[in-house]
Amino acid sequence: MQRIAVLTSGGDAPGMNAAIRAVVRTGIAKGWEVFGVQHGYAGLIADDMQPMGARDVGGIIGLGGTILGSARCPEFRTAEGRQQALDKLKRRGIEGLVVIGGNGSQAGADAVAQMGFPVVGVASTIDNDLIGSDITIGVDTALNIALEAIDRLKITASSHHRAFLVEVMGRGCGYLALMAGIAGGAEAICIPEVETDPEAVATIIRAAYERGKPHAVVVIAEGAKYNAEGLAAYFTQHAGRLGFDLRTTILGHVQRGGAPGAFDRLLATRIGAGATDHLARGQYGVLVGQIKSQIVATPLVEVGGKQKPLDLSLLELARILEQ
Ligand code: F6P
Repeated sequence: MQRIAVLTSGGDAPGMNAAIRAVVRTGIAKGWEVFGVQHGYAGLIADDMQPMGARDVGGIIGLGGTILGSARCPEFRTAEGRQQALDKLKRRGIEGLVVIGGNGSQAGADAVAQMGFPVVGVASTIDNDLIGSDITIGVDTALNIALEAIDRLKITASSHHRAFLVEVMGRGCGYLALMAGIAGGAEAICIPEVETDPEAVATIIRAAYERGKPHAVVVIAEGAKYNAEGLAAYFTQHAGRLGFDLRTTILGHVQRGGAPGAFDRLLATRIGAGATDHLARGQYGVLVGQIKSQIVATPLVEVGGKQKPLDLSLLELARILEQ
């Protein structure tokens, strides 16, 4: 192998740049030429890629986002789109591809692997829903951003004797909400994996009020059956019963835009380097991630389109701790 390409795809995640840097520099160290593809799979189809040198990735390890740009590319979901992309790669003599991204992106990588092209995935998404990595690139930073917001909201909530509904990202996965809720000392946590009755949430908030708490915080995953707006709308029909006055904050993309912390820089560096090691060993069609502190590879067929299960005993722990 002499020439590879790297791309970032799907929602950006803090640490993607550190992973690009690791792929480029470890690739160069192996004697390869490394091409950076612009805007994910769309850039593959458009043949929008440039060779990257060690200096091109200088100073990016601490930057959020992705210097290559990212995109969601419906065209790549078609066999024609993927064939066009592979034709472009082959015309340039590129023999291997590293895909840095989350669930949808790794399903795309699997489709490329099924077409016989050497591809290795790098587990990167703030959602932490990928099978094949205990924790994915971006999760730790996004979680800390959510936590800082919750800490701040608790301060103003206490000043005004209010309840806050705080919605965090995560698509169909409740990991971010569960962890932010536990670490932020939330009174209640709503996640997609467990259907929560809004009546039960109202009872928890009212009970916190009656116990003399200065505030109540409910952390809600965007994918929960009742998201923050849904819960707020439900509670509006029962004005006064919560005790507290109610406010809603949706954190949204704020969680994605942070500069990666030490954990994500190190994780991205190790996984990015692991990806080029796997390409060099001829181990293709795998997702590289971290399991039990080790950098490991999982076949992409076992990853794409599936969701890693949550440890729901933590939800029970959160309930116990809310006193
Ligand atoms: O997958 C990462 C993620 O941030 C999800 O948590 C969220 O549902 C989605 O991407 C938002 O996507 P977009 O940036 O396209 O609005």
